[in-house]
Amino acid sequence: MKPSSTGRNHKTGGKITVRLLDWYDAHQRALPWRMTGGKRADPYRVWLSEIMLQQTVVKTVIPYFESFIKRFPTIDDLARADRDDVLRLWAGLGYYSRARNLHACAQKIVSDHKSHFPKTITDLKKLPGIGAYTAGAIAAIAFNQKEAAIDGNVERVITSLYALSQPVSEIKDDIRKKVEALIPENRPGDFAQAMMDLGATICIPKAPRCSLCPLVKNCAAFKAGESTNYPVKQAKKAKPHRFGAAFLLRRADGAVLLEDRPDQGLLGGMTGVPTSAWQEIVLEEEMLLQSAPVKARWRKLEDIVTHVFTHFHLTLSVYHADAPNTLKIQPTHRWSSANGPEGEALPSVFRKVIALAGS
Ligand code: ADE
Repeated sequence: MKPSSTGRNHKTGGKITVRLLDWYDAHQRALPWRMTGGKRADPYRVWLSEIMLQQTVVKTVIPYFESFIKRFPTIDDLARADRDDVLRLWAGLGYYSRARNLHACAQKIVSDHKSHFPKTITDLKKLPGIGAYTAGAIAAIAFNQKEAAIDGNVERVITSLYALSQPVSEIKDDIRKKVEALIPENRPGDFAQAMMDLGATICIPKAPRCSLCPLVKNCAAFKAGESTNYPVKQAKKAKPHRFGAAFLLRRADGAVLLEDRPDQGLLGGMTGVPTSAWQEIVLEEEMLLQSAPVKARWRKLEDIVTHVFTHFHLTLSVYHADAPNTLKIQPTHRWSSANGPEGEALPSVFRKVIALAGS
């Protein structure tokens, strides 16, 4: 076996590990939080980069990482910072809860760990914002511990390599065992980063670059001509169907009766037209009309409104009626302006109802 390009010994692993690390030695990406030549990376930089990389891709993260390090060179600087400054610097990366956790984590490390990152997975996972993946990445990359860091990219690499044909959620333990069996004694940090680079640049979804892959000879998916089939997707559960009625009440001046929906629940805090409850059974008209917002001569439109929500399909019958200008309404209802509901922030299901009724 030829020696590795760095002269560091990783020939203790099996063929897959050796091939992966040889490839990493030749092709690893130069990243501002990454150390080369066997030097250990700074846990603060590893942690910061991993939290940012939970949000987006390496290319987007690099300028944010550089700004954070410039502004907060050490974990003490970050812990001491004003939270609003941290959030401002984070703006654009999304999910502010991650930035809040980042700040809280820095403060905890300073107060409870004398400004040093704990080294074990168990202690790392007790910190705000650090889950199994991030704990594994920090332990492996910053402390060179034999720990696995398994994210979606690594899952794709492993399920392809071994042609594991169950959905990932059903074989988490198997995937972990397979990764752990590949981690070499002496270069766990480089192994973790090599897997990340392979998953991000070669074993990519849709159009994997198998001709450049150092593991192509070991890859069961490639051998079967099924490189794009992994990981196998979970069969989607059929969405249930719900039914109900929407009520469009119009005044002669053009105003339409609206309802501000409660903050909790579906479309919480948004405005709509009054509706019945949405249920998995189709109710008789007499029952539906009991949910009408006022007593009126309700007429049913021939057409229906259908809408697809994340968790169910909805079919609405639409009832309409005219109201005298003097009609008393319930406190949970209000009238739109006389121009109709145009200027209101209505979710699309209610826009469909209004469009159907020709308002
Ligand atoms: N993706 C997630 N973590 C990474 C890391 N440390 N290096 C490169 N890509 C990554």
